[in-house]
Parts: sequence; C-alpha cells; structure tokens
Amino acid sequence: MAIPSGINIPCGFDSIDEYVVVLKQMYKEFAYLPAMHIVDFLVEDHWSELPQDWQEYFDSSAFDIESLIPMASQGQVPADSPESLSGFVRQMFGLRFPRDKIDTGASDDKVAVGDIQKYFLNGMKPKKQAEVIDLAHLVSQVARETGTELVVDVGAGQGYLSRVVAYSAAGSRASVLAVDFAQGQKRGAETFQKRLIKQLRGKKAQTDGYRWQEGDEQRLVHCVVKVGMDSTGELVQMARDQAGGRKWMLCGLHACGDLSSAILKAFVESDASAVALVPCCYNFISENCGDMSGFPLSTAFAGVEIGMNALKTACQATVRWEGKPSETMESFKRNYFRALLHYFMILKGQLSKHDRFPTVGGVTNTELAEAVEREQMQDMAEGIDKEFALYVYAALRKMQSSWHPSLGECLECRRSMEHGFRQMAVVWTLRSIVGPLIEGMLVVDRAMYLAQHCSSISAFALFDPVTSPRNVGAGRAPLNDALDVPEARRLKCEKTFEALCFPVCDWLMLNLNKINRHFAISRNIFPPLQPADTHIHFAGQYY
Ligand SMILES: C[S@@+](CC[C@H](N)C(=O)[O-])C[C@H]1O[C@@H](n2cnc3c(N)ncnc32)[C@H](O)[C@@H]1O
Repeated sequence: MAIPSGINIPCGFDSIDEYVVVLKQMYKEFAYLPAMHIVDFLVEDHWSELPQDWQEYFDSSAFDIESLIPMASQGQVPADSPESLSGFVRQMFGLRFPRDKIDTGASDDKVAVGDIQKYFLNGMKPKKQAEVIDLAHLVSQVARETGTELVVDVGAGQGYLSRVVAYSAAGSRASVLAVDFAQGQKRGAETFQKRLIKQLRGKKAQTDGYRWQEGDEQRLVHCVVKVGMDSTGELVQMARDQAGGRKWMLCGLHACGDLSSAILKAFVESDASAVALVPCCYNFISENCGDMSGFPLSTAFAGVEIGMNALKTACQATVRWEGKPSETMESFKRNYFRALLHYFMILKGQLSKHDRFPTVGGVTNTELAEAVEREQMQDMAEGIDKEFALYVYAALRKMQSSWHPSLGECLECRRSMEHGFRQMAVVWTLRSIVGPLIEGMLVVDRAMYLAQHCSSISAFALFDPVTSPRNVGAGRAPLNDALDVPEARRLKCEKTFEALCFPVCDWLMLNLNKINRHFAISRNIFPPLQPADTHIHFAGQYY
C-alpha cells in the first residue's frame, strides 16, 4: 500500500483557506477557555466567564458530572443541555482532523515487522514499537523512492527509529545520522546499537538474510547537537558533510516543541530530499520571537498568538478519557485541589494574588502516603474527608513552604469551596474540547509553511490515535495513490500546487517535494494525475 498524499481538512470544508479562516475565527471566539489558568481558577472566579446558560445547566441537579467524559471523548452532549453548548461541542468536533489511522501497509509487511520483532525490540514499549514500525516503513519507502542514502534522525533519543532504518534487512539500507542534544540519550542509543550489531553479526541473523559487511557499524552514527530555530544552518551543514554528495532526508519521531519547527525550517532552507516528522510537546513551542518563533511558521497564521496555557491544552488527549474514567475523575480532583490550595494560601495570607504560582507538579501517591505518616493521620475516624488536607501537606512540603495549616482549617476550606470541584471538572473538560482545534492550527500552520515553499503536500493519520495521541508526519509519496484512500476528493489547483482533501486527522502525513525540484522528481516518480473531480484555485501565495 502506498503513502496517501494531499493536505487534509475535515469534511464540510471546500478548501484549506476556508478551513484556516474558520479555525482562526473559532479560536478567537473560544480562546478564553484554554487561556484560563487552572491554578487561579477559584481565585479569579474563571467560572463566571462561562455563558450564563452554561453555568446554570452545569450547576443544575440534572447535570451528571460523568457525562463530561463522553462529551470530551466522543462529542456526546446530554439531550437537555443548552443549544449553545451542544453547538459549541459540535463545532469543535467538526473542526478536528478526522482521527482514523490511514493504513500505509506497514503492518502488512510481515518481513519487516518480523524483523523488527526479532532484533529491534530491545527497550521498546508496545506504543513505541507500533510508532517505529509505521514511521520506519514510511521513511524507508520515501528513501527508496527518492534515492536517499542518508537519513538524519533529529531528536533521536535512544535511537529506536534510527536503528530500524539503518539496519533492518527489510529497510531502505540508508545510513543514519542520529542527532540529539542529550549526551545520556546518545550513550543509551550507542549501547543499544552495540548489542544489536553483535546480534546481527551472529549466525542466526545471517540465516535470516543479514549479510554483515565491513564498515556496516558506521551506517548509524550518533552525535550530540542542539538544534534550534536559530541553528538550522548548522544542522544542514552537518547533514551535508555526512552525506558527502549523497541524497539526504530529515526525520523526527516525537520531536518536541520548536524542534519540529526547526526540522521543517531546515528542510525548507536546504536541498534535503524529503522530511518525515511526528511532533509532540506543543507547550515547548515558542511564540513572539520573530523569525525564530516555532509558531506561526506560515503567513496563514501571521498575527495569531496561542499562549502557553492554550499550547498545553493542545497536548490533551481526550480520546483516552473514555477508556480511563476513574483516572479522568482523579485528574479533575487533582486540578481542583491545586486550585483550592492556591485559594487557601491567598485566603490565609501565605501568597498574594500577584505572586508567581509556586511550582507543585504532580503530587504522587507515595508523597500522599508519606504525608499520612508524618501527620499521623492513619487512625483518623472514618468519614472525615482528609484527602484535601493530605494534598495540602504533601504539596506544601514539595514547595518547601514552612506554613502548616491545621487539619480543621483544611477541612473548612474544602467545605467552603465544595462547588469548585464540579466547576473545575466542567471547565477542564470544555478547554480540553478546544485542544484539538489548537492542535489543528499548529498542524495546518506547519503544513501551510511547507505549502508556501513546496509543491505538494499530503496529510493523513499515521498512528492509532488512542495509542499515540501525538503524531504528525511529513514525507513524500506518489500523488496518484492517494486515490486509494476512501472518500478521497481531489482538489486540482492552479500551477503546481496539487492537494488532496479527504477525511483524515490531526495525525498528519505531509507529503511534499520542493517546488524547485518538483518537475524533475514528479516526472520520474509520480504517475499521471487522475482526472480531478473538484477544482479549487489557490492564490499564488502558496509558492
Ligand atoms: C520525545 S523524545 C523522542 C525520542 C525518539 N525520537 C523516540 O521517539 O524515541 C525527544 C528527543 O529529542 C531530544 N531533543 C529535544 N530538543 C532537542 C533539541 N533542541 N536538539 C536536539 N535534540 C533535542 C531530546 O533529548 C529527546 O531525546
């Protein structure tokens, strides 16, 4: 099965331009939700920012807090909810990229999968395994199609992807330059590599088709380099030096924040043959740094500012809530406790509204158990709700605060703000529902950035959304094969920008080749285009 191509937008939109306009409009309208800070939620009374009819509905006894889970996971809104609320949820879900994974045939390749399972699993959890199988398949396919001989794996970590691309017998046999800024990651990756090489030189591997040759160790080289928006030139130079005249491409699996933006920038600024990218950690994307900003990259989102709280919201994975209802309720409670502690500290003069929020991070069960011991609360009478008090004692210790409120004060604070739990759960859910819209803006911004510099773009779900909520990819593929994707609609555009639009998702596969190489490459690789069933004329800005 081939890699689908085309930039993907949800059903109901005729063009990427229309989609961008609606994304921006809707974000403007609902930005107040993800912009809310959870810590000062009670102090600032963020609840009062919700529309009046929503407040009344969520405050009513008819509302069941557990209905928030299917609302966030599936967009199911109780029948008695206000029309404006169900409209909001409908709109947010309608703006998401479709989430079903598009099968690129990676798991059908029994030889490659068997190979990976036999030799490359060391250290990989099932989630990583699935991701590596899909992305390595894609990278190898793209490398073969483009005649690429060096793959530069940026943010390579422990080198799971690098090793499969470099050494799998079913792979492209390209060399790999694995780049990471952490010395510890490099050391770990090299240890895994040594063990693998020993195995691949063994008799068993030889009977499995591995023909170890002199110098094969050098097919995977690791280096420690920090890649930033301001140092893409250095990455490109390093890649060129390593390639020594051979074709090279970029890839990244879960490249955090600005690292993904830097990989795309390096691609656009260089002669790399392709890029295959799966970003993550949107909260590490920088804004307001001029040309060095990780967002926006494209002119389509110029002037849009997302903000740190909203970037964090984009990392939410509400699709998982349904499978983990008790963990979801627990996270509502922990958020509520954090906000309540802040309220409590201000109420008791331990903080002022203008102080920076002290960092607590997650309070673990071990820390709570230690608080029980320290405060000698083991034998406390049944029925006393000591949970918040325990959280307070554990959190204050983490903050290294010398304040020690009495148990009575903690219980009183909790009682006085009991209603805050439901309000927090509601607001946390509503802002999480906006998360995919923000992720959509980030993904489309990156796609549009490529579109502004490249001739063809495609997008599709690469990983299973529940197993791997973060997965945006970039690569290149024959345009024609996109018609294998169900419900594919071809948008034939003016000049050389061809885009396919079909129901895919926020897991994007961006297929591109650069405009200055488009004709030469496309004549060789891409079969003739199928007749278009839709015609959309894009403005010249895409070039
Ligand atoms: C989420 S991990 C992914 C690792 C690996 N690709 C994988 O999927 O297993 C991100 C990796 O990128 C590295 N990294 C983050 N920012 C970086 C930067 N600016 N330059 C180079 N490496 C970076 C981190 O050290 C980390 O190993």
